[in-house]
Amino acid sequence: EKEKDFEGKKVLITAGPTREPLDPVRYITNRSSGKMGYEIAKAFVERGARVVLVSGPTHIDIPKGVTFIPVETAADMYNAVMMHLEEADIIVGAAAVADYRPKEVKKEKIKKDEETMVIELVKNPDIMYEVGQKKGNKISVGFAAETENLIDYAKKKLKEKNMDLIVANDVSQEGAGFEVDTNIIKVINKDLEVKEYPMMTKREAAHVILDEIAKLL
Ligand code: C5P
Repeated sequence: EKEKDFEGKKVLITAGPTREPLDPVRYITNRSSGKMGYEIAKAFVERGARVVLVSGPTHIDIPKGVTFIPVETAADMYNAVMMHLEEADIIVGAAAVADYRPKEVKKEKIKKDEETMVIELVKNPDIMYEVGQKKGNKISVGFAAETENLIDYAKKKLKEKNMDLIVANDVSQEGAGFEVDTNIIKVINKDLEVKEYPMMTKREAAHVILDEIAKLL
C-alpha cells in the first residue's frame, strides 16, 4: 500500500502513439506502446490523485479509476488536453505524438500507380509546448526518447517547453523505451541536475518519477 501523497491533486496525462490518417485505410504512427504513460496513470491513482488519461490507440486495458479519453490524431489529443488543462495541477506528457501529419487526407483509398510517390507532411501542434506557455504554476513533466545525444536533447526540450521535469530514455538501449516492460530512465530537473536510475520495470519507473514530482509540490 503506497502513501496517498497526491491526494487532492488533479493530473492530466497523455500516453500512447498518435495515428495520422492518409486515406480511409492507411495511417502513419510510431512504436509507442503506451505502457509508460499507463503505469504513470496507475501510480497516480494508487497515490490518491484524480487522473484524466488522454490516450492514443494502444492494446492495454484502461487503468481503473481514471477518466479515459481515447483519441487518434495529434490534433484530437491537443484538443482533449486543452479542454482539461485548466483543472489540472500536474500535466505529464508521456505520449509519442507524431511530429508531422499528411497534409491531405484523401477521401478515397489511394490507388497504386507510379513507381514512386511523395507524401507531403505538415507539422503537428506541440502539445507540451502549448502547455508550457499556458501552465502558470502548474507542474509539467515531459519525456525525451532519443537514440543519440540523450541528455543534451532532453535539457533543450525541458527549457523550450518550459517543463519542470523531463524523463530521458535512450530508446536504442536494450531494456529501455518502446514496447518493452522495462525502462532505463534519467530524470532532469529545472536546475539541469541529472539523476540516473538502473533498469527497472515501467511500474517501478513510474513511482520513481512520481517521487520526483512529489518533491516539487
Ligand atoms: O520534441 P519531442 O517530441 O521529442 O518532445 C517530447 C515531449 O514533448 C514528450 O513529453 C511529448 O509527449 C511531448 N510532445 C507533445 N506534442 C508534440 C510532440 C511532443 O506534447 N507534438
